[in-house]
Amino acid sequence: MSITGIGVRPSMSGNDGMHQKVTTATLRELKLRHEPITCLTAYDYATARLVDEVGIEMILVGDSLAQAILGYENTLSVTMDEMLHHVKAVRRGVKSALLLADMPYGSYQVDTQSALSNATRFVKEGGAEVVKIEGGEKRADLIRRIIDAEIPVAGHIGLTPQSVNVMGGYKVQGKNLSGVEQLMRDAVALDRAGVALLVLEGIPREVAAMITAEVETPTIGIGAGPDCDGQVLVFHDILNLSFGHPAKFVRRYANVGAAITGAVQTFRTDVATRQYPSDEESYHLPKETRATLETVLERKRAMRR
Ligand code: KIV
Repeated sequence: MSITGIGVRPSMSGNDGMHQKVTTATLRELKLRHEPITCLTAYDYATARLVDEVGIEMILVGDSLAQAILGYENTLSVTMDEMLHHVKAVRRGVKSALLLADMPYGSYQVDTQSALSNATRFVKEGGAEVVKIEGGEKRADLIRRIIDAEIPVAGHIGLTPQSVNVMGGYKVQGKNLSGVEQLMRDAVALDRAGVALLVLEGIPREVAAMITAEVETPTIGIGAGPDCDGQVLVFHDILNLSFGHPAKFVRRYANVGAAITGAVQTFRTDVATRQYPSDEESYHLPKETRATLETVLERKRAMRR
């Protein structure tokens, strides 16, 4: 058997129309070369395909699915089956990016066996290449067990939304000395456990910079400042497709929400004023059928006279 790279697959856009398949090894290389890594969430085939074809290195089916797509109040309610359904759809749209699946609340906290079997489902049924788990040093043993089962793991520390009730809200973490020390311990423990990457959410820029310099694994920030090895944002946030006030770190790259509202309003008006559909947007009978139909109708009219 020969040792070959994981394939270059054609995609629709990008400078040369091709994007190299991103693997966990690629992420390490990017960190060593100080090249920023990009990651966006996606929850369906169409958006996953668009994001992948731009050349974003990682696509995360985040448990933010709960709010962005399913309209839950927080991430705690989303289930394994709901996550898996969306991971499968995203898988069908992704060729080059590394595909991450978020382990939902309750899928890894109960016991190691169920955590292993849920992680395995994401890989076997969903086609995910990495699973993401929230929590620091207390998760290190579990993460080792999952990696032992040949499943790469993304760690996630700092503001971990699944701990919202314990944190007493969505609060920036690591603002005092003991918080900083805890975050450093968490980062080092997960790095030693062998995580493929480490998401740093909602922590001071200075702390994210210290962690990034300390650990070998690539750090991917969200609300953690510019010194991380990469950045992740929620797809719906950058397009203004999420409702409510955005967090400080969210940059809106387009106003797709307004574009959708405008298009839907125009459709409604066009139908109400009979401007849609036009004759050009209608199907027509073939000439011969129309002629025959005319003859038949004429005959009927004549019989009625
Ligand atoms: O669920 C999610 O979208 C996430 C990222 C924002 C890191 O966990």
